Amino acid sequence: MTQFNDTQLTAAVVDSFEDTPNPRVKFLLQELVKSLHDYVRKTDLTFEEWEYAIDFLTRTGQKCTLIRQEFILLSDVLGVSMLVDAVNHREREGATETTVLGPFYVGKHKQMPHGTDISANLTGERMFVQSRVTDLKGKPLAGVPVDVWHADDDGFYDSQKPSYAAEGPSSRARFVTDADGRFFFRTILPCSYPIPTDGPVGEMILQTRRHPMRPAHVHFLVDAPGYEPLITHVFIDGDKYLDSDVVFGVKDDLIAKIEKRSDPVMPDGKPAAGPWHLMTYEFHMKPGQGTAPLPLGFKETEDA
Ligand code: BEZ
Ligand code: FE
Repeated sequence: MTQFNDTQLTAAVVDSFEDTPNPRVKFLLQELVKSLHDYVRKTDLTFEEWEYAIDFLTRTGQKCTLIRQEFILLSDVLGVSMLVDAVNHREREGATETTVLGPFYVGKHKQMPHGTDISANLTGERMFVQSRVTDLKGKPLAGVPVDVWHADDDGFYDSQKPSYAAEGPSSRARFVTDADGRFFFRTILPCSYPIPTDGPVGEMILQTRRHPMRPAHVHFLVDAPGYEPLITHVFIDGDKYLDSDVVFGVKDDLIAKIEKRSDPVMPDGKPAAGPWHLMTYEFHMKPGQGTAPLPLGFKETEDA
C-alpha cells in the first residue's frame, strides 16, 4: 500500500523502524512516533502551528552554546526533567530525594577546607551550613566529595556573570566529608531567582503568563563510591515560590527550616560578625552505581 489514512500512516511509520538493530532504540522511536501522531490528531494541528513549533525548536537550538543549554531549560519548564528523575528514582527506601541538576553546574568544583566562606566577597545575610552524609542505616560515610553551588543575593550564579572568567568561582565549592561523614561551610542565604528569560523558553513562560521564578535553594551533588550519585537541592523554608517552582523541582523532604541565630560564635567555634542563619541537613545515600553527570562541554580534567 502506498497511500495511507491518518491511522494507517502511524502504523506505517512505526513499521518503518522494525529492523532497527538496537531493541531499546527501536522501542523509543516507535513510541515517540505514536505519541507525536496522537498529539497531531488530538489537536488537529494546523500548518501555521506546526511551522511555529519548528521555528520555536530552531530558535531553541540556536540559543545553545557550550555554557547555555536552552533544550534542557525547555525540558525543565515542561516538567520532563522532573519526570525522568521520578521514573528513575521510584524506590527511595529512605534515601534523600533527588531533583534537577540545572544548567549552572559547571563540573567538578575546587576542594576547600571545612568552614571556608564560599561567598566571602559577596554581600548578603551570612549563613552557616552543617551537614552529614550517611548510608540508609545512618552509618557515616567518610571521604565523600560533595559539590555545592547556589545563586547570590541578586539571584545570579557566578557563571552567569561576565566577571566569572577573571574572578573565578564564588558560592560554589567541593567539600570532602570527615571521618564522621560531616562537612560544613560558610556562605550567604541565597534568594529566589528567575530562570533565563532572554531566549525562546523564557519567551514561552512570559507569553503563557507563567512566572519564571525558582524558590531559593542550595544545590548539592554527593558522589559516594558504591552509592547512587545524589543530585539534589535543599530549599529554604518560607520562600514564596515553593508551591510554584517554574521547573517543578520542589519535594517536601528537601525543604529545610533555616534557624536565625545571634550567638557570637558559629558551630565551629569561630566568631560571627553579626546575626546569622543556620542550615542543617543530612544526606542519606542509596547503595548503587552510576557516575555523576558532567555538564555539556566540560572536560573530565577540569576543575571549576
Ligand atoms: C537551577 O536551579 O539552577 C535551575 C534549574 C533548572 C532550570 C534553571 C535553573
Ligand atoms: Fe539553582
